[in-house]
Parts: sequence; C-alpha cells; structure tokens
Amino acid sequence: MTNEEKIVYIHPKKLENFMSDVFIGLGVPEEDAKIIAEILIASDLRGIDTHGIQRCKMYYDRIKEGIYEANTKIDIIKDGPTTALWDGNCGMGHFIAYKAMKSAIEKAKKYGLGAVAVRNSTHFGIAGYYSLMAIKEGMIGITTTNARPSIPPTFGVEPMLGTNPLTVGAPTDEEFPFCLDCATSIIQRGKVELYERLEKKLPEGVVIDEKGNSMTDPSKILEKMLERKAALLPLGGAGEEKSGYKGYGYATVCELLSAALCNGIFLRDTLGIIENGQKRLKVGHFFLAINIASFLPVETFKNTAGDIMRTLRSAKKEPYAERIYTAGEKEYEAELERKEKGIPLNKSLQQDIKIMQEELGLAQYEFTF
Ligand SMILES: NC(=O)c1ccc[n+]([C@@H]2O[C@H](COP(=O)([O-])OP(=O)(O)OC[C@H]3O[C@@H](n4cnc5c(N)ncnc54)[C@H](O)[C@@H]3O)[C@@H](O)[C@H]2O)c1
Repeated sequence: MTNEEKIVYIHPKKLENFMSDVFIGLGVPEEDAKIIAEILIASDLRGIDTHGIQRCKMYYDRIKEGIYEANTKIDIIKDGPTTALWDGNCGMGHFIAYKAMKSAIEKAKKYGLGAVAVRNSTHFGIAGYYSLMAIKEGMIGITTTNARPSIPPTFGVEPMLGTNPLTVGAPTDEEFPFCLDCATSIIQRGKVELYERLEKKLPEGVVIDEKGNSMTDPSKILEKMLERKAALLPLGGAGEEKSGYKGYGYATVCELLSAALCNGIFLRDTLGIIENGQKRLKVGHFFLAINIASFLPVETFKNTAGDIMRTLRSAKKEPYAERIYTAGEKEYEAELERKEKGIPLNKSLQQDIKIMQEELGLAQYEFTF
C-alpha cells in the first residue's frame, strides 16, 4: 500500500486550531499563532498541499532548535508615506509578511501605492496569501520572497537562487480573483517532498545533478539537494534552447526585490548563517499594493479583468483538453471542495501530527488515525 492510499480527511477548522495550538505550545503569542495557522490552512484549502500542514513540522522543528524566534519582534527601520523597510529579527515569517502586506495596503489606501521591503524574516509559506489580502481591498497585490538556493543560473549546475515565487493577484468581476502564485523554478522543493510522500517519480528535465543530468527520484533529489548536488531548473529549463534564462532572470528579480532593496541575506547565505552561536535561516520579502481606485473605478477594472479571463478561457482548445483555466481558478475550486470534504492527510502527515500532539500534550484533539 502506498502513502497515497492511506489518506484521511480532516475538517479544516480542526486542523487550523491544531496548528495554532502547536505554535502556542512552542511559545508563539496567541494572536501571531492564529494568523500563522490561518495562512497555513489557506494553503491546504486552496489545494497547495506543499505549504500548509506539510510545512508545520518543519516550522515546529526550527522553533524548537532556536532557528526561528517564536516571539516575533518587528523593527520599522524606515517609514514613508508609500514605502517602508522592516527588520523581522528572525521571527515567524507568516506573521511578519501578514503585517507587512497590511501596512502596504494601508499606505495604498491613502496614497495609491504601498510597498514594504522586509529583511531578516523567515519562510512565509504561500506568497499568494498576501496578494489575496490586497485583492480583498480592491487592490492589485504583488508579493515575492527569496529562499534557500535551489535554482542554478543558466549554464550553471550549482543551486544559487531560491525557488523565489513571484505572485501577482488582481480582483475580477468573477467569483474568484486572478492569482498567479508560483515559483520561478519549474517545480519547487515542496513539490519534490510531495512526490516523495506519494512515492512518485518526477518528470525528466526538471531537476539536474552536478553533471547536468536529469534526476527523477525524489528521495535522491532531496538527499542531493542537501549536499547542493541537485538543482531545480528555472522556468524554461536547462540551457538556452527553451529560454531557461527567463526563469533565471525572474528569480533574480525576486532576489533583488527581497534582498538588495532591504540590505538582506541573499543567495548562498540563505542556506544558514551563525549569529551568536545560533544557526539562523533568514530570507527577505517584498510586498506591493496598488490601489486600483487611484486609476479608475474598481468595478471598471474588475469588469475588464473578468472579460480578459473569460476571453482567455474561450480560446480554441487542444484536441483532448477538457477546459482552459486562468490563474487562481483551480485554487478557488479546490477551496470549495475542501471546505466540504476536508483536508487530505497522507500517512506521513498523520505521523507528523501525532508527534507534535504527543510532544506538546495536545490531548484535547481526537484524530481517527
Ligand atoms: N515561501 C517560499 O519560499 C516559496 C517558494 C516557492 C514557492 N512557494 C509557494 O508554493 C506554492 C506553489 O508554487 P508552485 O510553483 O508549485 O505552483 P504551481 O506550479 O502549482 O502553479 C500554481 C499557479 O499556476 C496556476 N495554474 C495551474 N494550472 C494552471 C492552468 N492550467 N492554467 C492557468 N493557470 C494555472 C494556479 O492557479 C497558480 O496560480 C505557491 O503558493 C508559492 O507561493 C513558496
């Protein structure tokens, strides 16, 4: 029996409360823990299995090891009408990112645009959540972060850039917004972990070894990634034939916005640095909120944006394709389904939950596994 066959479904609210209690149990203040859990469950609800409960144990271990500060202290280094520079002091990335996008939105409400650059933060999960925050306020939201090295530069084999997501979200007149939320690599690390949990092989041309050969075994890839001997290819793939330099270029744009603009950690240093004898895993982020009402009525924008999405989906299809999607559509449909059906947990996630439950004595949660 594979991991895939042992799936159980859990109510999203129960899982969210559990994750919140896990963080509280580790010393994260209650308000912060609730925000972090809300962002993690949003990932699971939206069908992004790689960045919700799947990451909870990783954060758990990092807090326990002192790599992340459970009690986040944000320093505002510089604050202007439309811009701000923050220092997250290695606190909890989701909480820092939430507060930073909130600040960008407040600035955009007053002055049309709001941008916040953050240094010394930590992994913030799905970039799309923060763009969705702006969408809810009738704005366009742009979010990026850097991350530990995974992508090699074109013609290189050494992982240098993170899978650096670049997310752009905008409201439409449809039931769901446009939300392009993805890495600048063909696949991101969480998906390799997912393939491993599901005991599946990766396609060719997505990951390379130190000689530039394709790798498909997820366990081997994760092992070699630790040794920096496997790299996740940028969008477009290896070399110049399929324009891999475009993905490489966009990942570099993310690095500039997430590190150069805040004087933060970049490239190899995101693998970890030692500060006062303590290992730290730091990254930087960038958030931009664009207030549509400063350009034209939000409804006018939404109608045009909706027309663009509908027109795209009306394109002539490939012979065997059932339908054409626009970005954000699959996540919306996943959310509708998962609110009803629950969040799927494979065997490995069930084990993670059991470990955290037992170690923190969260006996009030009854699970069927
Ligand atoms: N914090 C980090 O360091 C970090 C790093 C990398 C990725 N991430 C996050 O991981 C998540 C997953 O990233 P990913 O690269 O695996 O995403 P992915 O490859 O699954 O792509 C998802 C995006 O593509 C759109 N999409 C999917 N199929 C489509 C279709 N047929 N037509 C049109 N649009 C379609 C989706 O709506 C979504 O916007 C994202 O939320 C991202 O922010 C985080």
